Amino acid sequence: MKTVEIREAFLSYFESQGHTRVASSSLVPENDPTLLFTNAGMNQFKDTFLGSEPRDYVRATSSQRCVRAGGKHNDLENVGYTARHHTFFEMLGNFSFGDYFKRDAIKFAWTFLTEVLGLPEDRLWVTVHVSDDEAADIWIKEMGVSAERFSRLDEDNFWQMGDTGPCGPSSEIFYDHGADVPGGPPGSENDDLDRYIEIWNLVFMQFNRDASGELHPLPKPSVDTGMGLERIAAVMQNVHSNYEIDLFQALIKAAAQAVNCNNLLDNSLRVIADHIRSCSFLIVDGVVPGNEGRGYVLRRIIRRAVRHGNKLGATEPFFYKLVDALSAQMGEAYPELAQQAGRVAQVLLQEEQQFAKTLDNGMQILEESLEGLQGGEIPGDIVFKLYDTYGFPVDLTNDIARERGLTLDMAGYDEAMAKQRARSQEGGKFVVDYSKTIALEGATEFLGYSDAKASGTVEVIIVDGEKVSTLAAGQQGVVVFDRTPFYAESGGQTGDTGGLTAPGLSARVLDTTKQGDLHLHHVHVESGELAVAASVSMQIDEHLRDQIRANHSATHLLHAALRQVLGGHVQQKGSLVTAERLRFDFSHSAPVTADELAQLNAIVNAQVMANTEVSTRLMNMDEAVQAGAMALFGEKYGDEVRVLAMGTDSFSVELCGGTHVGRTGDIGVFRIVSESGIAAGVRRIEAVTGVGALAEINSLDTALQGVCLELKAQPENVVSRVAAMRGQIRELEKQIDQLKMKMAQAAGGELASQAIEVRGVPVLAARLDGADAKALRDAVDQMKSKLGDSVVLLASVVDDKIVLAAGVSKAVTDRVKAGDLMREFATRLGGKGGGRPDMAQGGGTDVAALNDVLGAVPAWVDTQLP
Ligand code: ALA
Repeated sequence: MKTVEIREAFLSYFESQGHTRVASSSLVPENDPTLLFTNAGMNQFKDTFLGSEPRDYVRATSSQRCVRAGGKHNDLENVGYTARHHTFFEMLGNFSFGDYFKRDAIKFAWTFLTEVLGLPEDRLWVTVHVSDDEAADIWIKEMGVSAERFSRLDEDNFWQMGDTGPCGPSSEIFYDHGADVPGGPPGSENDDLDRYIEIWNLVFMQFNRDASGELHPLPKPSVDTGMGLERIAAVMQNVHSNYEIDLFQALIKAAAQAVNCNNLLDNSLRVIADHIRSCSFLIVDGVVPGNEGRGYVLRRIIRRAVRHGNKLGATEPFFYKLVDALSAQMGEAYPELAQQAGRVAQVLLQEEQQFAKTLDNGMQILEESLEGLQGGEIPGDIVFKLYDTYGFPVDLTNDIARERGLTLDMAGYDEAMAKQRARSQEGGKFVVDYSKTIALEGATEFLGYSDAKASGTVEVIIVDGEKVSTLAAGQQGVVVFDRTPFYAESGGQTGDTGGLTAPGLSARVLDTTKQGDLHLHHVHVESGELAVAASVSMQIDEHLRDQIRANHSATHLLHAALRQVLGGHVQQKGSLVTAERLRFDFSHSAPVTADELAQLNAIVNAQVMANTEVSTRLMNMDEAVQAGAMALFGEKYGDEVRVLAMGTDSFSVELCGGTHVGRTGDIGVFRIVSESGIAAGVRRIEAVTGVGALAEINSLDTALQGVCLELKAQPENVVSRVAAMRGQIRELEKQIDQLKMKMAQAAGGELASQAIEVRGVPVLAARLDGADAKALRDAVDQMKSKLGDSVVLLASVVDDKIVLAAGVSKAVTDRVKAGDLMREFATRLGGKGGGRPDMAQGGGTDVAALNDVLGAVPAWVDTQLP
């Protein structure tokens, strides 16, 4: 069975058992700061398990794209070295939300494996949690599984998504790849070897683990299962390694072709075939290579792939070429990949080109340091230098080290990194280190759509990852209130700032961020003390918020105007709204022209001047789609969504949780300040509104007045004036060139007069300081034609180095050779040189000796002539 067929067989089997087929969610999890990338099929159902997000089905099935690189589950370093590790894989799953439980989960799994796929029962092995008698009885007594191929394990049979969240005991099914593969059954000493491979994990979701580690029962017992598609495909295709399945073989062949490698078994091809999947899908899901967070993980994977290609001999970008082969394999199951293949390839190509510039240099540094290496450890400062200067992510260096049986001095690396940080640290804004924040639960009531001030009660204070009861004057911490007018950074809109007061207390809110539904206020206490349970008056910085509102509403108008001017393919790729300005990133493959920018400015300002009311309505998703709301692809929205409509004839209708102006006229005026490309196929527009736009216009006005003054022209004449001046400059440049030529001819005449006759042959050895190698060669030619059959050596001193050029006329070369002349005199000047009998070049260093050495040329020529 082909991989595509297995995926389809799984989904249709569970559909036939009453499950709703749900599309894979994005690799970038929404609203879940605990997760770097989607790493299991159940991620998108997390809140449904917890009971806070009801759905209109109780059984679901999906094939979920997953990435396990960076973050908690990190398989990156093992990829290429084992038969079954991947950065990207697909997880087939069936889910029950309070509907069936252990018995049906087990029955479905067993029927699918033994009947639909027809796997022999005696190749399967089952495990359950030590405490789970119920599941053990179902397997052995009801399903008739042999007690000889059954074990009870402890930790291995308890699954949880992360440190917190839904979890429960699990039951795993293993496939026995046969006695010729080393390894023992689950629970035995050698169970980590490759004979028994886990293919399916059935999790009986029963608990929610809170931040303190305590388990609370879920509203209803549920089921979450996960089967690795690549592993079951290996079983069905009778191969042992996942890399031998049809899908990977196609990618490996494409990779081999792209780098011109004949050995299809080379590990580096496996690494490349694995990495093209994670990289392409991450880009599809909106990640772009960068230096932080998800973007950095993507960059690390791309660079690791490029280095492996380089190792196989690739000298040109190759990785991006594999997107087509991938799309041929997976584009049908994931149409978003097929649609964006062109953009994905462009992003990869750009990153490959950028890395190529430093890859060779970095490899050279590494090789040099390996040559002199004492012991088996690469020093930390080299690892750091490779990272800092040559863009080698540490795991790439580690990969190279591993190939050669070496390790990295990570302590030394950390030390070098810490030193660098200390050097570049700037006081700056107070930002919470999320690794130090603890997970909190609950929700803050948000009053800020209508109110700029409110009173609230302090619920939690956190300093350095610990809950504390008070925050004293001079201290900073994160504070959660029961209610707040402070908007928390989300959807691109920056968090509010403002003040907190209570009798004796004065504090500043420096920023507001979000964790789940909680608003985290980043507070600095100026005087007094802030204590848990205290009641506090809260006031946002209203003038800043007004500017934020204007910029946010203008972003919506710009988005709609872009679709009108550039076309419906324009999709939002990112946005940032602050009090100062707005930034909007969108998909479009060419620079936006000046004419298009003018149209955008005009359209948005026309909407501003129409001064229509901005409407906000809460409705369900279907109604929103009917109303024409633009939803972002891959975003998850709750049952009730907030729909923002603004402009004439529903000019812009979008789902949005941000804060907006009451009427479009409140935006004042809109002005684009820049347009640029930020990644292949992604453009960025920055703009200002209201007072910001006026300030921008004023400063342009001032600049123009300055120019007018200098040019002694009126604004309307500036352009023609500048054009006329440029014409004048061109004319003057021409005249200068002519003068230079005349001067050179005159200098040439003078130079020629320095020639000395040696046995009837004019010999010229002279300095022409300042001339570069080319000018010197030209001068040699000139002299030869001026002097007739002659010998010429010219020298010039440039930056303390001597440049030499020599020429000998054809008629003389049988006796004097320019190459010999050059070799002789360059050596006398402490350098090297050589060339043909009629033309030679060279260089030297002994500037002090130059005049004397040139003076010796006629005598040397004399020894050569008969
Ligand atoms: N969520 C379970 C896993 O990832 C099925 O193994």
